[in-house]
Amino acid sequence: LRVLVLNGPNLSRLGVREPEIYGTATYDDLVRACQETAAELGLDVDVRQTNDEAELISWLHGAADTRTPVVLNPAAFTHYSYALRDAVAMRTAPLVEVHLTNPAAREEFRHTSVIAGVASGTIAGFGLDSYRLALRAIAALLAAGSR
Ligand code: DQA
Repeated sequence: LRVLVLNGPNLSRLGVREPEIYGTATYDDLVRACQETAAELGLDVDVRQTNDEAELISWLHGAADTRTPVVLNPAAFTHYSYALRDAVAMRTAPLVEVHLTNPAAREEFRHTSVIAGVASGTIAGFGLDSYRLALRAIAALLAAGSR
């Protein structure tokens, strides 16, 4: 079974981007962490990143059409994109929102997620482990037959 791991704007810059906040692990490390965890869980994984809101929405449409589970880091779109929220609301399979950092412990504008209310659940604050835990959550939801 295939799981999509979708990453929003600026996440390709991981390792270079504000390392004091986001750490020194790179985007390639993120991809590898997802591939390793998926292999442990017997899942196939397709890890993607875009800076483009329209592309991210198209990927979610594709996932909805194929009942593909998703791990989504919406990055800054988390806090204001109603278009992304509406795309997530159409989901036909589990979708776990992830964040590397804990937005609740950061600036006020990061305290709101417009995505959280339409996701299966959210995992935030554990760096690359957020992704590992999210893939485990997806596997558990699939095993339980829930969304
Ligand atoms: C982030 C948190 C967001 O507030 C921020 O805009 C990001 C990354 C995270 O993974 O911690 O780009 O989603």
